[in-house]
Amino acid sequence: MLAVRSNVQNLLRTQCLASCYKHRRFYKRIKGPSKPVKTVGLGRRKTIVYEQPGIVQPPTAKELFKPMAVEPRREDADNLGEEIVGALSRGSIASILKKFVIDKSVETLAQTNKVTGDLYQQCLESFTKYCLVSKPLSITLHIVFKDIEAGAGHVTDLFPFFLDHAKQVFPHIECMDELRQISNLSDPTTWYPLARSMKRKIVFHVGPTNSGKTYHAMKSFLEAETGVYCGPLRLLAMEVYDKSNAQGVPCDLKTGETRKFANDDDSPSNHMACTVEMLNTNLEYDVAVIDEIQMLGDLQRGWSWTQALLGLAAREVHVCGEETAIDLVEHLAYMCGDSFEVKRYSRLTKLEYLDQELGSLDNVRAGDCIVCFNKRDIYNIMTKLRERNINVSVIYGNQPPGTKINQSRQFNDPNSNCNILVATDAIGMGLNLAIKRIIFYDVNKTTLRHDGMKIRAPLSTSQALQIAGRAGRFKTRFEDGEVTTYFKRDLAQLKRIVSLPRENIEKAGLNATVDMIELFSYHLPNATLSNLLDIFKHVCTVTDHFFMCDVQDIQTLAELLEDVPLNLRSKFTFCVAPLKVREGIPRIMFKMMAKRISEGHSLTYDWLCRALGAPFCMPRNQSELIELEAAFNVIDIYLWL
Ligand SMILES: *[C@@H]1O[C@H](CO)[C@@H](O)[C@H](O)[C@H]1NC(C)=O
Ligand SMILES: *[C@@H]1O[C@H](CO)[C@@H](O)[C@H](O)[C@H]1NC(C)=O
Ligand SMILES: *[C@@H]1O[C@H](CO)[C@@H](O)[C@H](O)[C@H]1NC(C)=O
Ligand SMILES: *[C@@H]1O[C@H](CO)[C@@H](O)[C@H](O)[C@H]1NC(C)=O
Ligand SMILES: *[C@@H]1O[C@H](CO)[C@@H](O)[C@H](O)[C@H]1NC(C)=O
Ligand SMILES: *[C@@H]1O[C@H](CO)[C@@H](O)[C@H](O)[C@H]1NC(C)=O
Repeated sequence: MLAVRSNVQNLLRTQCLASCYKHRRFYKRIKGPSKPVKTVGLGRRKTIVYEQPGIVQPPTAKELFKPMAVEPRREDADNLGEEIVGALSRGSIASILKKFVIDKSVETLAQTNKVTGDLYQQCLESFTKYCLVSKPLSITLHIVFKDIEAGAGHVTDLFPFFLDHAKQVFPHIECMDELRQISNLSDPTTWYPLARSMKRKIVFHVGPTNSGKTYHAMKSFLEAETGVYCGPLRLLAMEVYDKSNAQGVPCDLKTGETRKFANDDDSPSNHMACTVEMLNTNLEYDVAVIDEIQMLGDLQRGWSWTQALLGLAAREVHVCGEETAIDLVEHLAYMCGDSFEVKRYSRLTKLEYLDQELGSLDNVRAGDCIVCFNKRDIYNIMTKLRERNINVSVIYGNQPPGTKINQSRQFNDPNSNCNILVATDAIGMGLNLAIKRIIFYDVNKTTLRHDGMKIRAPLSTSQALQIAGRAGRFKTRFEDGEVTTYFKRDLAQLKRIVSLPRENIEKAGLNATVDMIELFSYHLPNATLSNLLDIFKHVCTVTDHFFMCDVQDIQTLAELLEDVPLNLRSKFTFCVAPLKVREGIPRIMFKMMAKRISEGHSLTYDWLCRALGAPFCMPRNQSELIELEAAFNVIDIYLWL
């Protein structure tokens, strides 16, 4: 399997074409809402343009979760009501319902029955529709309507019918207490008894890129008897694994897709480098390092940093990251009863914002890195540079980690003739790059939101600083860095963005565990996984310093697998898979894998090769390259499963 993967990696490395730059999760931050300035285009492809730097939260859907279908009564049902108390006009039903909807005592009654807020509105809508569409009404409901019409009853008499209907449409109302209890996330510090039994010391290493903050944390890691490193990317975990072993400290590697042991007999060693999602909180360590701690505010992945920070069973926890996370981390340390300390570092080398834009590709020189935010720009620039007989290295998000590493080595090597880099913001984290000058090709970035809406907004200050900070590198031939833009029009805008204050991160992400979802499904046997996740989000309790992570990606996959007869636990496992390319072959293969498992077959190596059409050939054009990247993603998923 690994052989196939490295075959694909090699092919991808050789063909260094730009492609497939998908919107990446890492840079989505929670920020206050920005004001839309104008909307361009129509329908799903609308592009909203935002004035202020900062990314936008996805809109809340009007419908909380999918209601269960409740069939209205139809013509052929008995119509005893009318026979007993006489006919009822639609107009009269409608006007009674109108009063019912605005009656305050109905709302109060609903509240005591835990039907509140949006849920109440949704139930009202559904009930009204049900009464108006049912022909005829049930005998008892008919009589109640008739009484109210005659002045012999009050609209609140409809309430029992309303509540019955609500419980049919939203069965979870019936077991709200149990669900609330299961999803009570108000004190996540208590989830990690092992960590709570220890006296921990949290050390926050703060400083800009190139300040050596991680270096100091890593020093403690390497010197400790036992240690664990948790990083945001595979690439970073691999780097720590390599470095640690090279320095004679045996270290294992654990990412979603790879396990490697330092010892030949595959026995675990005392040090471990892993991606933060893969951290095992049941193992004790002397020293732990959590990199890029500000990502605990990440809309999707935040939960894994929160879990690491609260759950690491280590006497010393070194966290590295941005200033913006200090207050929150300090508060969480306080909640855990840990001691807390901040160590500040400043940049080791100079960083200068130039007054002169690049203007033309004729002005590029060795050590330049042109940063773009979409594959089309990358491709254009690369082609134009090649037309000028200039060799380039290319780095973007969907490349396999090995390819990125090779491209960065080639760029760093003064003898390679490839010392111009064209890259996306993928360079922001985790690659050692000897960049002299960062050139922003654009200062606005378009991201694709879950609902297919494209949003173009100026870079946030954090994003811009992170990218700009990559210019200049201590102990390389380019110690002092320079930053500029490609176009003259963007110079002032860039300077404005980087001078804005950054907002503190106020909340840390939490997630639902598979156990909680399983308990939910015990109470709600007929709900789909996607619906269970929605209900969870609605009923769960989180306190001030936390938020529930966004589960849209998981739900999309859950909906894809809705008709695959897998048990909930297996389905959940599939749905949290790192499927980066969500259309075409990976999507189809993903479903095929789930189907095969549900039919009791195993996913063999031969089957995968056949399904993917291995062996692979050298891609000849961009679309073949995209296919190859898709195949790589499928192999990753396979290894992950
Ligand atoms: C970027 O966005 C800002 C603010 O929305 C706008 O003034 C500027 O013209 C945009 N620049 C480009 C190149 O689109
Ligand atoms: C959640 O649990 C806390 C104690 O850990 C309790 O004080 C609180 O009332 C609970 N909230 C709900 C909604 O059950
Ligand atoms: C990276 O480069 C090394 C040496 O040039 C090569 O052996 C390796 O296969 C390459 N890896 C990838 C993934 O391209
Ligand atoms: C580009 O790279 C190739 C192979 O490494 C080399 O032969 C060629 O001279 C380079 N071109 C330039 C302009 O440096
Ligand atoms: C939530 O966290 C658990 C570990 O605490 C993890 O196994 C699970 O995959 C996470 N769920 C999601 C939806 O990411
Ligand atoms: C689940 O669905 C089945 C079949 O549609 C039905 O008989 C059963 O009553 C439902 N259970 C609940 C708790 O709604």
